[in-house]
Amino acid sequence: MLRRGGAGRPPFAVMKEISQDSVRTWLAARVDEERLRHSLRVLELIPGLAAAHGADAEPLKLAALLHDSARGMSDAEMLKSAERLGLPVRDIDRRFPILLHGRLAVEMARRELEIDDAAVLSAVLYHTAGHPLMSLSDKLLFLGDMIEPERALPRLDELRLLAYDDVNGAMRLAIEINRRYLAARGRVMDPLTLELKQALTP
Ligand SMILES: [Fe+2]
Ligand SMILES: [Fe+2]
Repeated sequence: MLRRGGAGRPPFAVMKEISQDSVRTWLAARVDEERLRHSLRVLELIPGLAAAHGADAEPLKLAALLHDSARGMSDAEMLKSAERLGLPVRDIDRRFPILLHGRLAVEMARRELEIDDAAVLSAVLYHTAGHPLMSLSDKLLFLGDMIEPERALPRLDELRLLAYDDVNGAMRLAIEINRRYLAARGRVMDPLTLELKQALTP
């Protein structure tokens, strides 16, 4: 069972619970098969990644299932949905609505599944572009998302090793890999990623 609950979590006995199966079924109704499989591959990585860094795997397992739940929407649907929900939409979000998918996934988790666990929601929120104030747990989802076995990007083998050893070093490499990926497609980096890069500079 995966836990639900607020930042000040109640004792386990009275904590609301939500089963992994029910979230998986919910997700399967919102994304295509490939996206579902990706999310399950990220989920599989989480216990090992969390254990390597002494982090709590439970909120991250739920976050892994939730993080891409908005990816079933088209660009136009993401924009429309963000506007309807009153989310802040930046110029860069209008150019690349995919940048909204973490924020939309948070809203879907809150509204449709009544999930309000701060650790779960912040990992989902920040997995898209990162944030200079990311927690260890947020970084582990960000990395898990990138290193899942079916991803094919340059230097991923290096990143896969580093992710279990040096989180901030892995985050710096992940940002560099993303930078090159985006540049090759004529896309600019989210300013939040640049701020994160700054924050990670030793
Ligand atoms: Fe994503
Ligand atoms: Fe993902």
